[in-house]
Amino acid sequence: LEQMLMALAFGYLLGSIPFGLILTRLAGAGDIRQIGSGNIGATNVLRTGRKGLAAATLLGDALKGTAAVVIAGRYGLEPALLAGFAAFMGHLFPVWLRFKGGKGVATFLGVLIGIAWPGAIVFAVVWLAVAFVTRFSSLGALAASVAVPIALALLGRPAEAQLFAVLAVIVWIRHAENIKRLLAGTESRIGKKG
Ligand code: G3P
Repeated sequence: LEQMLMALAFGYLLGSIPFGLILTRLAGAGDIRQIGSGNIGATNVLRTGRKGLAAATLLGDALKGTAAVVIAGRYGLEPALLAGFAAFMGHLFPVWLRFKGGKGVATFLGVLIGIAWPGAIVFAVVWLAVAFVTRFSSLGALAASVAVPIALALLGRPAEAQLFAVLAVIVWIRHAENIKRLLAGTESRIGKKG
């Protein structure tokens, strides 16, 4: 039990580091919560026009999830899954930002890299294909997050598939506003202004 609580607390702490907010602030690019969609994630950092910052945000928000999983994974699969879940939730609900965090896409990917890297390839291929064709980062995330638990189940990794099915549902809930905008035809595209 102690180990499980440690995995949860450790994962949460790592996951709650808001790289998008910290990096944009350090770079003097303002408060990301006042820009674009107001989200703290890499997609919104890209709207500042600073591609390097967006890439660094993606990397930081992903690798904190990978780190949580890999470190907790020394104690077995269950602590790894718990730490991954906690890191994801930490990103969404960071105590430092009064629990107003991000949408979890980069951290979903990072946790996946640490737990089942073949799933991360599926995620990347689906995200890139959808985002490249439609220019909607959100739609790429919605599609990729659904593809992952299916792929993991097909790969014979039921425990991992279950975790990512839960995470995918949360990603979708977190994208409620994006889904509304996609349906209304008002979602903003990447690689374009506005
Ligand atoms: O993955 C985050 C992205 O899907 C949506 O971000 O800023 O367009 O709401 P944003």
